[in-house]
Amino acid sequence: MITVTLEINVAVHDDYTSFSAQEKTLFAAAKAACDDAYAPYSNFHVGAAVLLENDEIFKGNNQENAAYPSGLCAERVALFYASAVRPNIAIKALAITVDYSNTDFDEIVSPCGGCRQAIAEYEHKFKQNITIYVLGRNDKVFVIKSMKDLLPFLFSGDILKAFNK
Ligand code: THU
Repeated sequence: MITVTLEINVAVHDDYTSFSAQEKTLFAAAKAACDDAYAPYSNFHVGAAVLLENDEIFKGNNQENAAYPSGLCAERVALFYASAVRPNIAIKALAITVDYSNTDFDEIVSPCGGCRQAIAEYEHKFKQNITIYVLGRNDKVFVIKSMKDLLPFLFSGDILKAFNK
């Protein structure tokens, strides 16, 4: 028996000073999307913004439903929207934020398992990493260079392909 220890890489920033104008625009888009979240049941507002290879930005936010499973997370709303209207343009980055205004909670809120899988799918589709910016309270930002860091041993289309020779 061996124990495998995995290392993940996350850059933690305490403010926005080292980010480019484009990155700050992406963060602002995620925050604006968060303001428009439709979350009457959880009251947990999430915003996401996708940056494409052609520099377009697509926003999304969580959309809830009285029949709970019928809703969708912000990350997937943004990713599916971008993919629906720009199917052939690679996704470069995704910024995610939550509304901290009604809580003392001051940790980062990183994407749920289903959204991690969806992000991994687009890395697989375009054969390139997606930078994930998780925006926290007071301009804190976690930067993750690829979903492979958040989803070790991930399941992807490469595995299905290997079984379908
Ligand atoms: N939610 C997101 O939008 N993204 C996540 O990564 C986690 C959860 C939403 C779904 C639901 O509307 C609410 O947050 C509570 O789970």
